[in-house]
Amino acid sequence: MSATNSTELPPLQIEELQHRAIAAAKNAYAPYSNFRVGAALLLDKGAIITGCNVENASYRLTTCAEQTAIVAAVALHGPAIRIRALAIANLNNAASQPCGACRQTILEFSTPATLIFFPNQDGTFAKANMADLLPAAFVLNKKQ
Ligand code: THU
Repeated sequence: MSATNSTELPPLQIEELQHRAIAAAKNAYAPYSNFRVGAALLLDKGAIITGCNVENASYRLTTCAEQTAIVAAVALHGPAIRIRALAIANLNNAASQPCGACRQTILEFSTPATLIFFPNQDGTFAKANMADLLPAAFVLNKKQ
């Protein structure tokens, strides 16, 4: 997948985000799936915020890494955050695109320039934007 209509990021910044996502995945609480995921957000003002998946014995209460990172970013930086880029990693040497629910959550804080990097099966990283990942998304007008 390749990004369209987006501004590139310097390779060193992409690498840093990927490293931060891998580091975050090491904190994952994933005793049920053993699938450890990390996410690193680069906010438009330059801060990097990370998250990991947090599972629960009641499976549906599991929180994905991307959602953990976004919730932390809002808690730390407020409701006006915008995501410049997001890297996703896992410790299972597997492909892992953001799940459908995460795509909707990422979209909420994205711009057309937001870039998402995620691992392919072969260890390389794919790059996408939200138009690639969630065309025809559900949107609602904001009241404020
Ligand atoms: N998971 C994520 O953290 N992000 C995704 O986008 C897909 C799935 C987690 C949830 C669960 O803990 C594990 O991966 C297996 O589904």
